[in-house]
Amino acid sequence: MTISFNQSPQNARILSVGAYRPPRVVQNGEIAPRIDSSDEWIQQRTGIISRHFASPDESLIDMAFKSAEIAIARAGLTFEDIDAVIFATISYPFQAPSAATELLTRLNNSTAAAFDISAACAGFCYGVAIANDMVRSHTAKNVLVVGAEKLSDYTDPDDRATAFIFADGAGSVVIGVSDHVGIGPTVWGSNSQTRDAIVLNPSYLEYKNNPGKLDIGWPNISQQGQTVFRWAVYAVAPIALQALAAAGMEPDQLDAFIPHQANERIIDSLVKSMKLPESVAVARDIRTTGNTSSASIPLAMDALLTERPDLHGKSALLVGFGAGLVYAGQVVELPPIPQKSN
Ligand code: UT7
Repeated sequence: MTISFNQSPQNARILSVGAYRPPRVVQNGEIAPRIDSSDEWIQQRTGIISRHFASPDESLIDMAFKSAEIAIARAGLTFEDIDAVIFATISYPFQAPSAATELLTRLNNSTAAAFDISAACAGFCYGVAIANDMVRSHTAKNVLVVGAEKLSDYTDPDDRATAFIFADGAGSVVIGVSDHVGIGPTVWGSNSQTRDAIVLNPSYLEYKNNPGKLDIGWPNISQQGQTVFRWAVYAVAPIALQALAAAGMEPDQLDAFIPHQANERIIDSLVKSMKLPESVAVARDIRTTGNTSSASIPLAMDALLTERPDLHGKSALLVGFGAGLVYAGQVVELPPIPQKSN
């Protein structure tokens, strides 16, 4: 038997980005009293000044849809043009049907390939990697990659270790065919020995020893902040530099750096360890968005392009890292000026 695969690889790039932030802005002062903290402590330790929380009747899918419709319109496409949806999230409560298929019905598109990925704060970069390979191999033409989270539903407002960090929002990109390389090779992997450092349901630890049915209730995130912080500052810079080298670039050839928005001190440390020159624009969306896990990189990308429209079409190094612990990074060409702006 001979199986044929006659098409030669084609190039892919990000055609557009869309973002959605829920209207409700939550200042540190609203969070701090319940956890015996202060606006000053939260700003000094994380850089976060405020974040957005969805309203109780606003779902993860509502937010994802709003970011997706902007991205699709900016790419000059219609909902029917999307032939695959990759939905990165850790805050959709159901294993099946997937959030991706739920989103598809909102897009009035009932035929595209659709699946969710669970790679936490690296989820968006995992999605970009997969979408790039799908377009390169002709498996799909226009892939919608969504990162969306409603983490306010999964955060205990009385937990001193997490209540001030996590937030809500959604970001989407459309990845499609290009006449040149618009997405570099992805460097990805994991440090699974440290997977207990961020857990979205404390019952996970019990389940490891007793894998039967558990009365798990509604889950909340717990994290060993210092363990994750230390890992991020020593492990992520070399990964990001590998992604840059894999794209054949030097730090001074880069136009922008858009890391996962976990903590501004982590961002500062990465910039320093990587010796990024001042000419590289650094995304610091965390200040007014908080940590939105899978959504943080597309949200930060959209914010950076709003602030610096001259960066449309320029290069950016993306790097995501988080629960698992998992990571992924790649150099991309930022999307061009939208064909239609919303
Ligand atoms: O996106 C997923 C990946 N997640 C991350 O990347 C998160 C990484 N970790 C972090 O960003 C940081 O570890 C945190 C922001 C979570 C915590 O900051 P930290 O500098 O690591 O704080 P710490 O736990 O080392 O605590 C330092 C001090 C302690 O007081 P003493 O012992 O120095 O007197 C804590 O008791 O700060 C105190 N503290 C607080 N004070 C006010 C701890 N939590 C709080 C709080 N408010 N919420």
